[in-house]
Amino acid sequence: MKHSNLFIFLLFFMGISAETAEKICVIGTGYVGLVTGIGLAHLGHDITCIDIDQAKIDRLNRLEIPIYEPGLKELADPLMKEQKIRFSTDRVSAMRSADILYIAVGTPMSDDGCADLSALNATLNDIAQALNKKKIICIKSTVPVGTCAQAKQTLIKKGCDPLSFEIVSNPEFLREGSSVHDFLNPDRIVIGCEDHSAGLRIKNLYKKLIDNRSKCLITNLESSELTKYASNALLATKIAFINEIAQLCNKTGANVEEVARGMGMDKRIGEQFLNPGPGFGGSCFPKDTKALELIIKKHGLEANLINAIFKSNENHKQILLKQVDHLLGIQTVAILGLTFKANTDDIRYSFAIELIEHLQKRGAHIKAYDPQGTQNMKELFPNIEYCTSTKDTLKNSDLMVIVTEWDEFKKLNIKECADLMRTRRVMDMRNILDPNELKRNNFTFYNVGKMR
Ligand code: UDX
Repeated sequence: MKHSNLFIFLLFFMGISAETAEKICVIGTGYVGLVTGIGLAHLGHDITCIDIDQAKIDRLNRLEIPIYEPGLKELADPLMKEQKIRFSTDRVSAMRSADILYIAVGTPMSDDGCADLSALNATLNDIAQALNKKKIICIKSTVPVGTCAQAKQTLIKKGCDPLSFEIVSNPEFLREGSSVHDFLNPDRIVIGCEDHSAGLRIKNLYKKLIDNRSKCLITNLESSELTKYASNALLATKIAFINEIAQLCNKTGANVEEVARGMGMDKRIGEQFLNPGPGFGGSCFPKDTKALELIIKKHGLEANLINAIFKSNENHKQILLKQVDHLLGIQTVAILGLTFKANTDDIRYSFAIELIEHLQKRGAHIKAYDPQGTQNMKELFPNIEYCTSTKDTLKNSDLMVIVTEWDEFKKLNIKECADLMRTRRVMDMRNILDPNELKRNNFTFYNVGKMR
């Protein structure tokens, strides 16, 4: 069967006929844009991903995936080999030939806590030159409530005919480290629009994914934008909450894992996102909770609860650093885990950054290991000793600090750790190690709510 017939057959089989395969330009090839572009190509759409970073585009055109994201390479390889997805820096021409533009540029937290929309505004400048035919402009980047409506006014002020485009909001709910799974198995697709037919067209992109399990909500622009912030803030609240309960467990002899299990049996609470740890980090929760707090205040409302989430998270981290001090003299510290969580190479807002700064102030000698995050951390802290295995990291160390819940740390043999280390002290920030095993091997330790 010829390639083109096979392609038509595959599209049909996947429930997407050739005529519903959309020509899409994805703007931004970061954690969100790259997964979205590859995911949409996998669903049978004609995808061009663009970026201002020539080096990144060159790597992608050499079939290299520039981020660590489990399963992404396997999903991308056949698509890239068969040219079902293209990568380019020729932004305006790629936008011109597409019917749908997906904006997935970064909106990081700026110094005042607001979302930095400079990349979005630069993208709108490019789009203003590319409206050669009617297009849907879909904003996937996390943006403050009102940004989509503002984007429409910005394009009109740039002389664009309001009949030549429709703005749609389609926020992402991808967890780093699980983003391929989350793209292909969404709990929900949220779409905000002014023109319902534009919203339906975006919904149709995901036709293959929407069944009785994956729901789709089509709402207005502002509700879609706020759903994203509200979801992340509530998830961050669950984490800050269980960490406060964990600290109380440490004082009262309760076991936080048992408490979380007892809570999670209530369907209204749910068992997920009740794992204590070093506090929430990553490129989203700190940014989104801070941005939501400012959005609430900007509208003259009290952000009591949202403000408390951030404060609670910061306070929790200070308690953990004090516990590290109780365990530490001025010696060698073995840090296991540098990324903000397991299964990613991302160190943004990782607790490991604050921990390293804290230990450097105390003159400790730091040895560190992470299966994926070392390269990124070296750019921040070139002068600490990076090891390539857990064993090397622990050798002759006085204190082991587990920051990230990589599977390989869950297989640690505590007796072997004891034999490698100079003194037997552990700060287990992910409750990976069995407290009874630690006691049996004469370790002095702290963890997060599971001392018994
Ligand atoms: C998050 C949201 O989950 C995702 O839906 C959104 O699109 C982007 O932001 P991400 O930041 O990639 O995803 O990671 P996530 O798995 O949510 O973890 C965020 C932080 O919370 C990490 O620091 C993680 O270690 C911490 N966490 C998570 C806990 O401490 N305990 C938990 O039970 C879960």
